[in-house]
Amino acid sequence: MKTVDELSPVITEENINRRVAEIGSAITREYQDKDLVIIGILKGAFIFMADLVRKIDLPIEVDFVRLQSYGSGMESSGQVTITKDVELSLKDKHVLIVEDIVDTGYTLKYLKEVLSLHETASVKICCLIDKKERRKVDIEVEYVGFEIEKGFLVGYGLDYDEQYRQLPGIFHLTPRYEAKGFVPSER
Ligand code: PRP
Repeated sequence: MKTVDELSPVITEENINRRVAEIGSAITREYQDKDLVIIGILKGAFIFMADLVRKIDLPIEVDFVRLQSYGSGMESSGQVTITKDVELSLKDKHVLIVEDIVDTGYTLKYLKEVLSLHETASVKICCLIDKKERRKVDIEVEYVGFEIEKGFLVGYGLDYDEQYRQLPGIFHLTPRYEAKGFVPSER
């Protein structure tokens, strides 16, 4: 039975806000005079996406997708499917995928390939957290908020067992159980 999880701060709300504003400005500069569609990956990206779009000073369209990856434990296997597809037309538009965390890279590799089939003008990726050292497939991420090496992270959209998404900062989680010790594998 779960008692209390231990949370240690990794990135503060202030640092996230500062970095999100910087990325928003960079996106604003890059996509001047271009038709830009921002696509968030549910659920984890919903808070980052909401903050980021308010720092982009351009006319944009917004859409969401949801993906399911199958795997053992908490690491995806590379088998990814779309459970909620994009609804806007992407033809001739510049697409920016917004993701909370890139881990193995399977999710984004799959989504980028699928979105490219829509005859887009371009498809680029923006993620808040890049766990580069856990990458299994090669994927270019154009905008990265923070590179973090280790630890299971929660907060600012990231969950553990659907909890903690609403925390304003990013935390490292160590779950505590009454009966026996349990450490989740990396995301
Ligand atoms: C997490 C995260 C990414 C994906 C990254 O989603 O939000 O979408 O895993 O992993 P990958 O790089 O190894 O593919 P999760 O499946 O936990 O769903 P959620 O966003 O609904 O929390």
